[in-house]
Order: sequence, then structure tokens, then C-alpha cells
Amino acid sequence: MSYKIAIDGPSSAGKSTVAKLLAKDLGYMYIDTGAMYRALGYYLVNKNISCEDEESIIKVLDDIDIDIKYIDEEQTVFLNGENINNKIRTQAVSDAASKCSTIKEVRCKLIDIQRKLASEYNCVMDGRDIGSNVLKDANLKVYLTADIDCRAKRRYEENINKRIKTTLAETKKDLEERDYRDTHREHNPLICVPEALYIDSSDMSVDQVVDKIIEYADGKKR
Ligand code: DC
Repeated sequence: MSYKIAIDGPSSAGKSTVAKLLAKDLGYMYIDTGAMYRALGYYLVNKNISCEDEESIIKVLDDIDIDIKYIDEEQTVFLNGENINNKIRTQAVSDAASKCSTIKEVRCKLIDIQRKLASEYNCVMDGRDIGSNVLKDANLKVYLTADIDCRAKRRYEENINKRIKTTLAETKKDLEERDYRDTHREHNPLICVPEALYIDSSDMSVDQVVDKIIEYADGKKR
């Protein structure tokens, strides 16, 4: 049986940075489930399919093959055979991923892929519904958050580094909308399950967060 660590939390809480480091430290596989929703978002943007058009999205699901491979130890997403790893971090794709992730059929398809991967490897998987749904049996569950101003500042700085034109106020508004969608959707909303280790990283460094999780994992006897 593989050992599974689930990390959930809102956008820009630092989940992927922490999960990657943790996976590296432990020698586990890092599985970024957001990248799979982004792959579908990328498809929809390219095919000009509106994220509000649920019927069309459900129809195209059968035409879409999302595959995860590990190249140089990095999770790489393939959409119908094309490596799209460098194309899924745009604003348009982020929006599309956030919106299409509310659709039940979308979630079912991607959750199947996520569970299959987790059954094959010791892994650290991050997302929104990992501890509450995808890996209910995870050996360790973490809920990682930070206050909204802190997350907005982090996201804003990332955007500026990527030369995306935006303001701090716009970035904060976008995050608030995403938080609302993630926590209020009908299917698998973001929640903090009672058994999760709750970490507010607002005043913590990445290393402090990773150390805290490892300490907690050791206490639970891996
Ligand atoms: O973590 P991220 O920003 O790359 O995720 C992109 C979108 O996918 C996010 O807006 C919410 C959605 N998502 C989800 O609904 N469930 C997951 N397990 C992971 C991501």
C-alpha cells in the first residue's frame, strides 16, 4: 500500500511549493491535481468553448485524454499527446479551470486519473478536495492556508514576475472570486476536514511549513 499525503487549501496558499519540497524530501511523487483542471481549461480556451456551456463541456470530455508523465522528476501534463506544461499558467486558463471544475462530470473524470496515480506511488497530492474526497484514506492530511491579503500579495508578485499586467486590488478580487467558487460549489467543495493538520502560513517561511508537516508525519509514524 502506498503512503499518501493530501494537501488542500485555497489558491496561492503555497500548496504546490510546499508539496513539491515535501515530496522531494521524502522521495515521494508530487501530484498536482490543479494542473489536470488547467489542462481541460486550456482545451476549452483553445476550442473557444464557453466555461458556462456545461452541455458542450460534458460532450467534449470523451475527446480529451489527459495524461501525466514524470520528466526529470517534474510532473508534466499531456493533453491528447501534446506536452502543455508551459501553457497552463495563463490567466485565461486559470479562469477556465476554476469555472469548469464546478462540473460534476469533469470532476469524476479527473478524480479517476488522480486515484489511479495515487494507487501506484507514495505521493504528496495537492488540490481542493484531496483529503475530503479523492484520498479519503490518506495517511496524512494537511489544510494549508494564509490570509487573503498575504495570498493576494504573493500572487501579485508572481504575476508581475511573469509580466502579467495587473494590480494588487484586481488580484485580490480574483482570488476572492475563486475562493468563493471553490468553497461554495455543489460537488466536492474545498473544506478543512477535522482530521487535517491546519496550517496558516501567513507568517511562516516555506521551510517552516515543510518542517512542521514532516514533524507531524514523524509523530504519526510513517
Ligand atoms: O491549484 P490550481 O490553481 O492550479 O487549480 C486550478 C483550478 O482547479 C482551481 O481554480 C480549482 C480547481 N481545482 C479543483 O477544483 N480541485 C482540485 N483538486 C484541484 C484544483
